[in-house]
Amino acid sequence: MKFFVDTADVNEIKELKETGFLDGVTTNPSLIAKSGRDFKEVVKEICDMLPGLPVSAEVVATDYKGMVDEGKKLAKLASNVVIKLPLTLEGIKATKTFSNEGIKTNVTLCFSAAQAILVAKAGATYISPFVGRHDDIGFDGMELIADIRQIYDNYENFKTEILVASVRHPVHVIQAGKLGADVCTIPPSTIKQLVKHPLTDIGLQNFLKDWEKTGQKI
Ligand code: E4P
Repeated sequence: MKFFVDTADVNEIKELKETGFLDGVTTNPSLIAKSGRDFKEVVKEICDMLPGLPVSAEVVATDYKGMVDEGKKLAKLASNVVIKLPLTLEGIKATKTFSNEGIKTNVTLCFSAAQAILVAKAGATYISPFVGRHDDIGFDGMELIADIRQIYDNYENFKTEILVASVRHPVHVIQAGKLGADVCTIPPSTIKQLVKHPLTDIGLQNFLKDWEKTGQKI
């Protein structure tokens, strides 16, 4: 399973890059606003930090032509930019245009398996089903991942990768792995939570205490 980090904060990306398990980055207009940075400048900086790794940058136009124009400008920033488009009819049309031109896309705000079928037919690189926001309104977001996985696996020509988004806690990551999702995009704080277990900390403390008693050095 690939791990993308869901942030536009370059310091957080820098820190996680050093762990060696970062496979890409996703941003959205809310994360750009939170960063307080110029959109194109920060996307370029992230792309340069992670050469060859996919970095999603989202269009804000809502009509086909506007999305294609914005997407083309974003694609020029770096070769590893992935154009993020909303799951609307116009967004799907723009996805098809980009996929015909060999430009990578990530279709966002997916809340149903029917939507995910259309996105695969349009040849998107990634589909982003939002699990946390689904859970927030009383649905099981992970059921959506299971449905999309099952459908995509039925058709060899569906090459779109399932990118689990709106991840809120480590259990989402475990469930995504069990269901065979291709990618999880995870907030930095949740990535850090993945490594934590109280029994690991206690066990390590005890080993070190016992080692000290031996008086040895390695
Ligand atoms: C990423 O591509 C999504 O925009 C993001 O995961 C949404 O997460 P949220 O629902 O926590 O805002």
